[in-house]
Amino acid sequence: MKIPFVDLKLQYQSIKSEIDQSIQNVLDDTAFIGGKYVAQFEQEFAAYLGAKHCIGVGNGTDALTLTLKALGIKEGDEVIVPANTFIGTSEAVSLAGGKPVFADCDPDTQTITPETVEKALTARTRAIMPVHLYGNPAPVAELEELAGSRGLFLVEDAAQAHGAHYRGAKIGSFGQAAAFSFYPGKNLGAYGDGGCIATNDLEIAKRVKMYANHGRVKKYDHEFEGTNSRLDGIQAAVLSAKLAHLEEWTEKRRKIADLYRTNLSPLNLPFQKETTGGRHVYHLLVVRIPEREKVREFLSEKGIATGVHYPDALPDLGAYKHLGLGPESFPVSSKYSKKVLSLPIFPEMTEEQVVYVCDNLKDAVLKLGGI
Ligand SMILES: Cc1ncc(COP(=O)(O)O)c(C=O)c1O
Repeated sequence: MKIPFVDLKLQYQSIKSEIDQSIQNVLDDTAFIGGKYVAQFEQEFAAYLGAKHCIGVGNGTDALTLTLKALGIKEGDEVIVPANTFIGTSEAVSLAGGKPVFADCDPDTQTITPETVEKALTARTRAIMPVHLYGNPAPVAELEELAGSRGLFLVEDAAQAHGAHYRGAKIGSFGQAAAFSFYPGKNLGAYGDGGCIATNDLEIAKRVKMYANHGRVKKYDHEFEGTNSRLDGIQAAVLSAKLAHLEEWTEKRRKIADLYRTNLSPLNLPFQKETTGGRHVYHLLVVRIPEREKVREFLSEKGIATGVHYPDALPDLGAYKHLGLGPESFPVSSKYSKKVLSLPIFPEMTEEQVVYVCDNLKDAVLKLGGI
C-alpha cells in the first residue's frame, strides 16, 4: 500500500466542481488582483475567526513581516520566537528589521510558554511571537497577559493552526494580530502561495494593506515604500471554496489522530500533547522516536511517506550560527529535533491506511529492538 504524507489530489477530486466553478468565476470576471473574490474571502475568514479585519497578502512570511512593520518594529528591537519552528517565523523578524530572540519549548506541548519566554526577555524586547506548532495552540491567553503586563506586542504565528481554539476563542483572535499561511499543504491551503493577517485593530489592518501594496493610499499616491505582496483573486476564490469544508476536515484530522493514538498505545510513544484548554487541529501528527532515520527508512520501504519538522532547532542552523548559541541554550528543542517524526495525516485518510501505518511502525520498533 502507498501512503502519501498528504494527498492534495484526492482533496481536489472531492471538491472538484466547487473549485473549478470558483476559478472559472474569477476568469469570467478577470478579477485577478484585488477585486470582489479577495474582499469576499477576507470577510469570510475574519467572520470565521471572530476577528474584525482580515487582509490577504502574498504568503505567511510576508503576513508576519508586514505585521511587525505595521507595529513599528525597527533595528535593535527584539522579538521572542520559538527555537523550534519553521525559519519563516524568525526570518520575518529580521526582514522587518528586528532581531529574533529564541525561547525554548515546553517538552509536552512543544510550544513556548510564559515560563520559557520569561527567560528570553530583555530590556529590548518589543514583541512575543508564539507559534501554534503543528496546529497545537500555544497558551496564548497567558502569553497575551504576559505581553500586556510588560507593554509588549503579541503576534500569533498561526501558519499551522487554521481552526484551532484556545479557551473558547479561535486562534487568530488574540494579541495585536495573527498571521496565517495558505501554502497548499496547510489545513486551509491555496493553489499557490498565499497568506493573511487577522486583527481587531483597524490601524494595523490599514497599514498592512498599504505595506502589501507599495505603501499606496490610492493609485500613484504612495505614503511610504512598501512591497508587492497581495493575495490574488484565484487563490482567494479557492480559499473561499475550501473554507466551507475546514471544520469538517478538522474533525476528520482529530479523529485520525485519535485512531493513531489508540492503535499505537502498546508502543507508549510520546506524542505531542494537546495544550490544556486548546483544540489541536493536527496540521501535523508528531511523535518522538529514537532511531528515527532507521524507522523512516523502514516505513519508506513499506510505501509510507513521513516527514521531520524540523531536523534542526533554528539556533543550530547555519543562518543563526553568528549568534553563537549552542544546543545547550535550547535543550528541549535541540534534543527533540533529532527525534521528532511526522506521520501521514490528511482528512481523506482512511482507517485502513492509518492501521497500515501503525502496524508497520510497530514492526519497525520491534525489528529495531524496542524504543
Ligand atoms: C510556523 C510557520 N511560520 C511561517 C511560515 C511561512 O509561511 P509561507 O510559507 O506561506 O511564507 C510557515 C510555512 O510553512 C510556518 O509553518
